[in-house]
Amino acid sequence: MFSGKSHLLKGSVSLALVLLILLVVILLVSEKNPLRTSSLFDIKSQFSPSSSVCNFAKGKWVEDRKRPLYSGFECKQWLSTMWACRIMGRPDFSFERYRWQPEGCNMPQFDRFTFLKRMQNKTIAFIGDSLGRQQFQSLMCMASGGEESPDVQNVGWEYGLVKAKGAIRPDGWAYRFSATNTTILYYWSASLSDLVPLNNTDPPRLTAMHLDRPPAFMRNYLHRFDVLVLNTGHHWNRGKIEGNHWVMHVNGTRVDGGYLKDIRNAKDFTIHSVAKWLDAQLPLHPRLKAFFRTISPRHFKNGDWNTGGNCNNTVPLSRGREITGDDGSMDATVESAVNGTRIKILDITALSELRDEAHISGSKLKPRKPKKASNVSATPIINDCLHWCLPGIPDTWNELFIAQI
Ligand SMILES: *[C@@H]1O[C@H](CO)[C@@H](O)[C@H](O)[C@H]1NC(C)=O
Ligand SMILES: *[C@@H]1O[C@H](CO)[C@@H](O)[C@H](O)[C@H]1NC(C)=O
Ligand SMILES: *[C@@H]1O[C@H](CO)[C@@H](O)[C@H](O)[C@H]1NC(C)=O
Ligand SMILES: *[C@@H]1O[C@H](CO)[C@@H](O)[C@H](O)[C@H]1NC(C)=O
Ligand SMILES: *[C@@H]1O[C@H](CO)[C@@H](O)[C@H](O)[C@H]1NC(C)=O
Ligand SMILES: *[C@@H]1O[C@H](CO)[C@@H](O)[C@H](O)[C@H]1NC(C)=O
Ligand SMILES: *[C@@H]1O[C@H](CO)[C@@H](O)[C@H](O)[C@H]1NC(C)=O
Repeated sequence: MFSGKSHLLKGSVSLALVLLILLVVILLVSEKNPLRTSSLFDIKSQFSPSSSVCNFAKGKWVEDRKRPLYSGFECKQWLSTMWACRIMGRPDFSFERYRWQPEGCNMPQFDRFTFLKRMQNKTIAFIGDSLGRQQFQSLMCMASGGEESPDVQNVGWEYGLVKAKGAIRPDGWAYRFSATNTTILYYWSASLSDLVPLNNTDPPRLTAMHLDRPPAFMRNYLHRFDVLVLNTGHHWNRGKIEGNHWVMHVNGTRVDGGYLKDIRNAKDFTIHSVAKWLDAQLPLHPRLKAFFRTISPRHFKNGDWNTGGNCNNTVPLSRGREITGDDGSMDATVESAVNGTRIKILDITALSELRDEAHISGSKLKPRKPKKASNVSATPIINDCLHWCLPGIPDTWNELFIAQI
């Protein structure tokens, strides 16, 4: 009787074990197969009229063990060292292991071969500030798998993107994946306005910033682009404009007083005028698809980098993981500028706002030296709550962008 009871006990223990193992296996399989969730959403979107218009900006961040999409150590060919947090010796990397799951939208897993095939004979151009450059570098890493690739040619010269004498770097870069003849390029235009040196010989050399004219690069090469992504935002402050010796012009004359003296109005005016110009160009360039990316949020607490503000959170999603509701973009300026045009909004503001832990802040100022045991604690820490670690959040912007091309 006694032994029978223990036999029974043993039996139920092993049954429980078997059940437990089964449960773990089921959990692992569903973790490994995130497409399940998206196919669930597909079914939902077929039946629910409210989600028939998909909004990629709404959804949630979910853990994904298959992330990141490329290695932050290996994508040296395309990543700026300062943005490669793995190389800069940041200690925590949990932020790399999330993907955005838009609600009610079909967003297939990124596959670089499928992507390049789809982009055969096509040119993708990013024009904007350093956050646009981050998105460009991210796409280069995604498309190359982060691997050293002799198949990718530098074709900057075709677009006049060569380093000028005395310049630190060219105004942009252009690369071609020769197997599919896909070109990906970036041009630095922080304000999306035309910059023309003024005819003054005395320093400081002033530059006219024509708020009502798109950058010459964009006018000259638009006919060669199949996809264009614009962005601006973080250079619209007095310090940056004066530091660059930019002098605002409209209608070919210097802005003296009036509502454009307020930089927020000047930014709003410029975003609307570049969107209006581009929209008018689209019928003349039928194969061109144009996107305006919304502003990338910054997370300085207590001011900004000038006033010692920082962002030292390292815990992912401590601001929440979900964006819901029917309200529009957090970037009302870009939203209203593209409203009623053929330009698509690439709305990344709210979903990036949740990711304050993924900035390059907390990295070391000097790249990690692989062999020598360095005096790490003595290396100053980067305090940048504007740019993002790569791999990281701009990869998600690209996934949303690719899903909408
Ligand atoms: C590459 O694509 C461009 C633009 O579509 C096209 O003009 C060119 O002929 C293509 N080159 C090759 C080698 O396929
Ligand atoms: C790409 O361009 C080449 C050369 O012009 C052409 O032979 C090929 O059919 C094109 N492929 C696609 C998918 O457009
Ligand atoms: C610049 O100004 C000088 C002196 O007024 C003039 O001689 C010159 O032609 C001007 N250059 C241009 C490009 O306008
Ligand atoms: C520029 O010119 C347009 C058309 O002449 C005019 O409506 C507008 O007020 C001018 N803008 C400025 C800032 O001078
Ligand atoms: C994070 O920054 C705040 C100031 O914004 C500071 O008070 C706090 O001590 C910092 N925490 C850590 C762990 O460095
Ligand atoms: C877009 O434009 C329409 C028509 O002018 C207007 O009713 C709507 O409120 C605008 N939407 C946004 C988000 O600005
Ligand atoms: C690290 O640098 C600090 C400050 O320069 C110095 O005091 C300390 O002795 C160094 N530690 C090591 C292990 O080199």
